Amino acid sequence: MNIAVFCSGNGSNFQAIADNLKSFQPAKVALMVCDNPKAYALERAKRAGVKTVLVERKNFNSKDEYEAKIIANLEQEQIGLICLAGYMRLVGPKFIKRYRHKILNIHPALLPAFKGTHAVLDALDYGAKVSGVTVHFVDEEMDRGPIILQQALEIKADDTEDSLAERIHRIEHQLYPEAVRLFVEGKLKIAGRKVKIC
Ligand code: GAR
Repeated sequence: MNIAVFCSGNGSNFQAIADNLKSFQPAKVALMVCDNPKAYALERAKRAGVKTVLVERKNFNSKDEYEAKIIANLEQEQIGLICLAGYMRLVGPKFIKRYRHKILNIHPALLPAFKGTHAVLDALDYGAKVSGVTVHFVDEEMDRGPIILQQALEIKADDTEDSLAERIHRIEHQLYPEAVRLFVEGKLKIAGRKVKIC
């Protein structure tokens, strides 16, 4: 199965998935889709020998046109699974319809708590004692789709955004490849909101 990873920034989750799948015959990361020319993720893909496509929203009149360009690239590479990994954009309804139940996202909190783009800081500012990581299917609403895997971690009294983000990343780098493998092996069955791992 060919996998595409979507990134906007650092790309450490891309790296974790690509490295993990090296020893996994049935799947490979075949494409990185990136919306930010300055993203370090592009450099990581180059080093990992993964094809990249840079698609910038500002070069298109509408979100539909922007996503049509991305879909054309995904179809060319015969992509069977899309992993959003620090891709800081909402995926549009047409895109989701085309790849229904084939898009995963990783979120740095225990959903449905702390949705959005500043989840690590939001959990810290809220005074939460526990946060974590969620890998979920993507549906039409942000951070809402059926949950595949979650792992909790304790927030320490002296945590800063950086220290907490670092521990969250360590968990992400284990959890995301695990979810990808489960998907590729056909072990995820969706029933409504629930994902059964067979
Ligand atoms: C990750 O922590 C991911 O959970 C988060 O962005 C980071 C990307 O790191 N995603 C979101 O906040 C989505 N709402 P990376 O570029 O090093 O993989």
